[in-house]
Amino acid sequence: MGQYETESGSGAGGLGFGRYFTPHMLIADYEEGTGWQAPRIVPYGPLALDPAAKVFHYGQTVFEGMKAYKWKDGQARLFRPRDHIRRLNRSCERMCVPPLDEALLLDAVRGLVAADRDGIPDDPGTALYVRPFVIATEPMLGVAPSRTYRFVAICSPVGAYYPEGMRPVPIYVETEHVRAVAGGVGDAKTAGNYAAGLKAQEAAARLGCSQVLWLDGIERKYVEEVGSMNVFFRFGDEVVTPPLGGSILAGVTRDAILRLLREWGIAARERPIEIGEVVAGSRDGSLAEAFGTGTAAVVSPIGSLHWRGERLAVGRGEAGELSRRLYGALDGIQRGWLPDAHGWMELV
Ligand code: COI
Repeated sequence: MGQYETESGSGAGGLGFGRYFTPHMLIADYEEGTGWQAPRIVPYGPLALDPAAKVFHYGQTVFEGMKAYKWKDGQARLFRPRDHIRRLNRSCERMCVPPLDEALLLDAVRGLVAADRDGIPDDPGTALYVRPFVIATEPMLGVAPSRTYRFVAICSPVGAYYPEGMRPVPIYVETEHVRAVAGGVGDAKTAGNYAAGLKAQEAAARLGCSQVLWLDGIERKYVEEVGSMNVFFRFGDEVVTPPLGGSILAGVTRDAILRLLREWGIAARERPIEIGEVVAGSRDGSLAEAFGTGTAAVVSPIGSLHWRGERLAVGRGEAGELSRRLYGALDGIQRGWLPDAHGWMELV
């Protein structure tokens, strides 16, 4: 861990998110006619690209994020890498990027994590974040799918995504800008979705909020996502999350949370959630908990909502009982101190 030590130490807080990178990366090129090369491990370093490469102009690019953990037995394991690789290909399909061979890619990611296993942090709250991505490299300014691509995967030893960790954060309900609409690219992991959210994130920060709660792009009525995460609410005994309708990313963590809840006998429904229902729930006290879920933050409790100039409380403003239970269960499975009944962890 020595190489990643920071002023505030090498623990979850000191590492932050996505600031340090391990010594190697994967690289593979694609050309029309010959297809994808097998990814190879090379030293981490800058890419030389033609300034006319389509990715710089039209954003034809996709990415993924998955985590590797070092267990007490000394072995490294990835959380649901097959699901992440499958989703990478679904994003490729949406963005007209040629798909990659999933088995070959899984082997390549395993090889990369094995090569940089000394870079996997093992303090509580830390992991190795693997970031595969594909960019369109053809140097040509016509708006059309590129005929050449580059696949790259880099690794970053990370701590908590939000400095607040499991401390509940204030969230700004965005009523003007939207993140995505059904029929667009909201369900693809592509750069433009994140760039499109920055303006609202700045507005949220000005109001002292950590993130944005996104509403649907047509009626500004239904809740969609929170920041770059899926969102869950607990009203009394029922847990709800918006359904995947084309504008919402199919989170791997979202799926794991739904499965855990249902196994625990908790009513967990995917259904449209009106912002009015959330506001009413805060006022009458039936909104007991709200939290975001994603690979980066895992579970991130919401403490309050800033809605049309009003600050609304969520539960008691503390990390709720269910949020803590879910985080504990996932963290335990990922770090190997709870049984992996679902076969989610893959040996590197
Ligand atoms: C995730 O939590 O998986 C994300 O997509 C966050 C990432 C954009 C940093």
